[in-house]
Amino acid sequence: GEQTLVNRTVGKLVSLREELKHKPLSGTLGIGHTRWATHGRPSEENAHPHTAGPVTVVHNGIVENHLSLRASLEARGHVFTSETDTEIFSHCIREKLDAGLDLTAAVRSILNDIEGSYAIAVISSTEPDKIVVAKNASPLVIGLGDGETFLASDIPALLHHTRDFIYLHEQEMAVVTADGVELSTIDGEVFERAPKHITWTPSQAEKGGYKHFMLKEIHEQPRAMVDTLRGRISLETGDVHLEDVTLDDARVKAIDRIYLCACGTAWHAGLVGKRFIEQWARIPVEVDLASEFRYRDPLVTENSLFIAVSQSGETADTLAALKEAKRRGARVLSVCNVMESSIARESDDIVYTHAGPEIGVASTKAFMTQMLALNLVALFLGRRRGTATAGAVTHALSQLSQLPGLVEHILTDSTDVERIARKYVAARDFLYLGRGENYPIALEGAVKLKEISYIHAEGYAAGEMKHGPIALIDEDMPVVVISPQGSHYDKTSSNLQEVMARQGRVIGVATEGDSDL
Ligand code: M6R
Repeated sequence: GEQTLVNRTVGKLVSLREELKHKPLSGTLGIGHTRWATHGRPSEENAHPHTAGPVTVVHNGIVENHLSLRASLEARGHVFTSETDTEIFSHCIREKLDAGLDLTAAVRSILNDIEGSYAIAVISSTEPDKIVVAKNASPLVIGLGDGETFLASDIPALLHHTRDFIYLHEQEMAVVTADGVELSTIDGEVFERAPKHITWTPSQAEKGGYKHFMLKEIHEQPRAMVDTLRGRISLETGDVHLEDVTLDDARVKAIDRIYLCACGTAWHAGLVGKRFIEQWARIPVEVDLASEFRYRDPLVTENSLFIAVSQSGETADTLAALKEAKRRGARVLSVCNVMESSIARESDDIVYTHAGPEIGVASTKAFMTQMLALNLVALFLGRRRGTATAGAVTHALSQLSQLPGLVEHILTDSTDVERIARKYVAARDFLYLGRGENYPIALEGAVKLKEISYIHAEGYAAGEMKHGPIALIDEDMPVVVISPQGSHYDKTSSNLQEVMARQGRVIGVATEGDSDL
């Protein structure tokens, strides 16, 4: 008979690669997963895949009712070898195989009992020619090759093998073989879905000479911004054309409130977007963290416009917030980077950022293009509601169209940035200050420093500094003050003085040529 070989290691992927050198695997079909520890510590026993009898499973997601499922499986004699929630899949499916079901039917029969999120891939040595997959609230894409078929959570992982993809939707399953895929809902309804050909190229999933993806993506910003603007603006008429927005004039005029929802960096982009929209369209905008919005009984009505901002289009809280707003009758527009993603599919209107795949964990070009796309939405709404004149919008658009070149200019020389980074490398805490649209930028700067350098940092509205955080300022706490020329310049400059007066060390972010600051 056929045999399933398993290799698992702890730590970085490179240790798995080493292990495989000593214990190579061969075969025509395989599954793998890098686990992000939720239930149970990172250890070899807890690593995926999880096996029970002939069944082997990998899983991305969280099974919320795993304790009760585990207790009843144990009561029926199943012996668990890990602390994970995932392991319940292999035992449940094994039980169904033992009862005489084939693999596909066995997987299908257990899914209704699972509460929580999953993208699973299941193999069995009893049916060694197929992988059975199922999806609910965790992403899963299928890549079609020539005599070979691929699975992944995300498109960039497969760009070297194929650009033809089928996206699984919620509560769908697929039986994957070398020749292709058979799709069905978890309730057993068979259906077909045409594959989509992706324009992203394999080179977009390579580092292309950069040390890491984040650096590459920082340098991709000018190109990404050009792509966000492409075909959408007319510098002659001041028109903004958003190809996937079908809101009619009556609906645009009826909007009485906008809810902007997102997580993390995308939320910061939303805070900037609020200013654009209120300025141009004169509609009040509330910005919420998606994880708060969904549980706060929001006052959404049919006259609300809900805007979700998400790079991946798969962030669970943002998706749930969107569904909640929709349920309450709101029109839903999303600013999103990934075509066909769950958030894009659930939305009435979409503004794609066209930033290309963002592979680095830290959002860079996505953030930039989200702000730009929200700016376009603001100008679009302003024109349609008559709160912004063609002349004013034309002027704004011509400034926006210069942005990619300005960003390019900034990126040509990073010696100052590197010098400053070296100087402050030993600091334990940073403060970031900004006013107006630079307040969210300060928040984002602080998140970036935390996430990438593991240095504690806080972002503050510069005007709030005297209401508390000023107590922290001394020569050990560098303060980044974002103070370009513009309406908040004088005010922010006085905050800078307050920092200096307390021996604080200031890193100024200023307009080129501003020697005063
Ligand atoms: O894919 P999304 O834009 O929905 O992701 C939301 C956040 O997880 C994300 O912006 C995160 O905060 C950044 N990658 C951090 O740099």
